[in-house]
Amino acid sequence: MTSEDFRAAAHAAADLVSDYLADLPARPVWQPMDDSARQALLDAPLPAAGRPLTELLTAIDAEVLPYPMGNGNPRFFGWVNSAPAPAGVLATLAASAMNPSSAGGDHADVHLERAVVRWIAELVGFPHPAGGGLLTSGTSMATIVCLAAARDRAARAAGWDVREDGLAGLPPLVGYVTGETHSCVRKAAELLGLGSRHLRTVATGPDGRLDPAVLRAAIERDRAAGLLPFLVVASAGTVGTGAVDAFGPIADVCAEQRLWLHVDGAYGAFGVLDPLIAHRYAGLARADSLALDPHKWLGVPVDCGCALVRNTEELRATFSLVPPYLRDEAAGALGWFSEYGTEQTRPFRALKVWATIAHRGRDGIARDIARCTALARHLGELVEADDELELLAEVQTSIVAFRHRAAGLDGAALDALNRELPTAVQRRGRVFVTGARLDGHEMLRACLLNAATTEADLALLLTEVKSAAAELLAGEQR
Ligand SMILES: Cc1ncc(COP(=O)(O)O)c(C=O)c1O
Repeated sequence: MTSEDFRAAAHAAADLVSDYLADLPARPVWQPMDDSARQALLDAPLPAAGRPLTELLTAIDAEVLPYPMGNGNPRFFGWVNSAPAPAGVLATLAASAMNPSSAGGDHADVHLERAVVRWIAELVGFPHPAGGGLLTSGTSMATIVCLAAARDRAARAAGWDVREDGLAGLPPLVGYVTGETHSCVRKAAELLGLGSRHLRTVATGPDGRLDPAVLRAAIERDRAAGLLPFLVVASAGTVGTGAVDAFGPIADVCAEQRLWLHVDGAYGAFGVLDPLIAHRYAGLARADSLALDPHKWLGVPVDCGCALVRNTEELRATFSLVPPYLRDEAAGALGWFSEYGTEQTRPFRALKVWATIAHRGRDGIARDIARCTALARHLGELVEADDELELLAEVQTSIVAFRHRAAGLDGAALDALNRELPTAVQRRGRVFVTGARLDGHEMLRACLLNAATTEADLALLLTEVKSAAAELLAGEQR
């Protein structure tokens, strides 16, 4: 392949991607794949001979781009998946052209990662000692990174070296979460050998926020029983309702009881940029660690999470392992990123973060965040004004939790209807919403992450939910 061949194909790729992005709003948000198209991908044979780049682009255009997840569309309200920031899409091409391993060393990607991790900390108002964080694949991985450091600190305080001795023989380390805590925390606890049995579910108030008094009592009970309470996980935006915990009072309990406070800000930490809801985040900066996802509300193309810690050395003490073949005498005082997390070869995530933030600046990002929270409050009002629908939680950030309350159905039938609704709505192709459970009941949750969403899109969402419900109910009667 000559460089001219590559240039021609790259121009064609730019056209293809530009057309794809421009056409998205006019397409169905999501549609089930044709059986034959799905099967063709599943059964794709290993090619013996290569094909020219231009042919590959034709195949991508015909076989891949027509079947997106839907999250690029402004009428996508599912899970916590955002549209890609255009600047991030472009940066991805340059980053893969350089293709470094951002494990460490003296190259641009490594220094840029230090800068964007600092930018992320600045954006959300988290303290940032030099080296106090790194980019990860997502919050699931960032949570493993932070909780490993929390575990090791607690074990050290008990005279135990987990890296050397493992956990066997140490009294159980106990962590405290709520019923709304994301499943990645339990996964991390299981992987780190803590045992999900030792994660206590602390009651929340009616606002979905962790109750500090119940937390304190649970810690004291466990300590009296000879266990080692070590961790509280609070949420800066729960995945179900977007609730933000009261960090100040929780940090007080953690300080008094000497527990590590970890905040899951995967979805919602950037909400602090909206002056109207910034007060909800008071005390966030007192946490020991914060996990968050630039690949969610910021729109950095997947994948990109971030782990931030208050104490750089604690993180390094947990992960640093430098065999002779990885020694770098020229590394500065902070060493390599691979000493602070699980990955050795690390992708160049920093360029897409840099581009996404630099394109809009702090002010542009804050405007987009505020637009999303305003849209969510508006949707909440539309739900409340509609007799067929019920708002299930205060709109604290940009998630709206609601359900259909068809007349004449008992609780079980309402649950059954609301459980079926997300799929029924998705299949109609006009909007995309997903479901969850809240307090034991089925619900729909609309997550607003796209500043290009309009008020008309929100009205359409509710019309679609009601139409899909009417179809389901009519089908049952038949
Ligand atoms: C609140 C919350 N925490 C954690 C996660 C997990 O993040 P990731 O999927 O980036 O690993 C999510 C993902 O939706 C989330 O919403």
